[in-house]
Order: sequence, then structure tokens, then C-alpha cells
Amino acid sequence: MARVFSGVKPTADVPHLGNYIGAFRQWVALQDLHQCFFCVVDLHSLTVPWDPEKLSRRSRSAAASLIASGIDPERSVLFLQSEVQEHTELTWFLTCVSRMGELSRMTQFKDKSRGTENESIGTGLYMYPVLMAADVLLYRGELVPVGDDQRQHLELMRDIAERFNRDFGDTFPVPDAYIPAEGARIMGLDDPAFKMAKTTERPNNLIWMNDPPEVVRKKIKRAVTDSGGEVLASPDKPAISNLLAIYSAVSGRPVAEIEGEYQGRGYGDFKKGLAEVLVDFLDPFRRRYLEILDDPAQLDKILDAGAARAREAAQETMHIVRDRIGLRRH
Ligand code: TYM
Repeated sequence: MARVFSGVKPTADVPHLGNYIGAFRQWVALQDLHQCFFCVVDLHSLTVPWDPEKLSRRSRSAAASLIASGIDPERSVLFLQSEVQEHTELTWFLTCVSRMGELSRMTQFKDKSRGTENESIGTGLYMYPVLMAADVLLYRGELVPVGDDQRQHLELMRDIAERFNRDFGDTFPVPDAYIPAEGARIMGLDDPAFKMAKTTERPNNLIWMNDPPEVVRKKIKRAVTDSGGEVLASPDKPAISNLLAIYSAVSGRPVAEIEGEYQGRGYGDFKKGLAEVLVDFLDPFRRRYLEILDDPAQLDKILDAGAARAREAAQETMHIVRDRIGLRRH
């Protein structure tokens, strides 16, 4: 049994299909075998300007989305990051063992701060990967299931853990990224050169997990395709390869089998099939999601219990960490 940790930022009302395929799908599978901590990382949402009302609503709905995706709060610890104060405390300790050079090299930081004067780039955005390292190390996490866009943050987390262990004695396991072989980078439906992303302003870029059937059908119909007409995954067909990856992930069928089914049938037929597979998959999600949001008392109970279990594990780690770094009286 390994300790698994992962998180999702509540920066939209619901996650998108890329979040599910790249991350949640693995989380659901891992909870059968491992001790899992799944966290709505609300503190990470403060790294870009935010609206307090929206943030608190979105934190609840992110938790509901995880349960509707198949996270079982009995088996896994499901909680809100800000309800376990040790996250911020460990972040400070790790800030003091991290380096400006390594934080400046993070591509996500460079992308998000591009075009902004150094003077006005938020410090939170810069420190983001340290908070992320603290999230995992606080639970002495060993396995971190994420999509491909988090690869570099995971490398930094490993460096921080190794440096801490070297300077203060073996304290943290050095966590491994767990990135799926297929579906780790779901691309935008309107442009397969860029990943599907919550922050996009383009409505046809992504499928929200609670999109109703008619919206799903419309978005798939409008999805860009490649030249030619054959339904085959290949590097020179990024759009069809992406749609095949989505089809495969939500149906659980291998890409080759789906290619075989649509051999000689063209993009139109394939898109119709994909839309129906998606509708069948998303419909139960949407129903369950709405049901969960409809019972706020039960969701509160789940989150309270999750925070209590998380706190217990976090306090155990912090007890050791404080002692190792000399924050003690004797
Ligand atoms: P976030 O909220 O952006 O995304 C949640 C998860 O979804 C994955 N993902 C994707 N996978 C495939 N294709 C895509 N287009 C796609 N878009 C997003 C992400 O890789 C992620 O796994 N920094 C993290 C949250 C975080 C975290 C942590 C994760 C905070 N602390 C500690 C692991 C461990 C983030 O912004 O995820």
C-alpha cells in the first residue's frame, strides 16, 4: 500500500473532461489499492485574482464532482486544503529550502506571467510549486497521480524533498509522479495544439463534466478534425488522435479496437459515436453531482470527517518536521 496524494484547483464550477481523463480516472482506480488523500486545493486558487463568493461555491462543487466521479469518501480522505492549516506552515519551511532559480524555471509560472512586468507578478503564483510540494510531503505521499502538465512541478517537489532529507535527515519519501500512458494530455477540441484548460475563454475548447447531452453533441460536432478522412491515431493527425484518446478513456476500449470499428466510415460517423459514448458517460455523473449538491448537510459531514482525518496525518508529520529543523525548546 502506498500513500497517494493529489489535488484539484476549484477555479471553475465543475472540472472538465481533461481533468477526469488525466487525473480523476486514475484516482478512482488507485483508491482500491492504496491509502489515498484527495484534496480540493483552494489555497492554490488564491495565486491568481479571485472572487470570494465564487471560490467558496466552487470548493464545494469541486468536492461534489470528485464524489460524482467515483471517489469514495469512506475509503479515501477527501478534504479542503485550507481546513488543514499545516499546509501553510509546511509551505513556509519548504520555502526556506527552495531556490529562486528553480522556481523561476517553472514553465507554468513563465506562461502565466508572460507579458506582465516583474514588478506586478503575484508572489503567490511564483510560490505555487512550493505549496504543491508541501501538499504531498505533509502526508508523506509516495505516489502523485496527475496529468502531464504537472510533470515539472513533480520534479521540483522531488528536489525539495531530497534537499530537506539531506540537510535534516530522512523525513519525506521522495514522491513519484503517476502519469497515465494515455490521456495524460487531453487537447482542446477547437485547437489540438493546446491543452484543454479551465481558464480558456473559448466555449468550444472543452467539455465540462456537467454539460447536458445537447451541448456535448454540439461541441463534438464542432470539434476540429485533420485533413484526410480516416479514423486513425497518428502524430500527423493530432485532432483525431485526441478524439480517439477521449473515446478510449470514457469507453474503456483500446484505441486500436475503436479504429477498427470506424474503418472506412469517416469522421462524421465517428463523431456521432463519440458524442453518444460521452453522453452515456456524463449523464450519470451529472445526475449524481446534482444530487450531492442538493444535500449540503451530507457534503459538510463528508468534508468535516475528511479534514479531521487529514489533520491527524498532517500533525503527525509536522511533529517530526518541527523537531528535525530545530523548532523546539530543548
Ligand atoms: P488542476 O486543478 O489544474 O488540474 C487537476 C488535474 O487535472 C489534470 N489536467 C489534465 N489532464 C489531462 N489533460 C488536460 N488537458 C488536463 N488539464 C488538467 C492536471 O494535471 C491535474 O492532475 N497544481 C495542480 C493541483 C495541485 C496538486 C497538488 C496536484 C495542487 N497541489 C499536489 C498534485 C499534488 C493543478 O493545478 O491541477
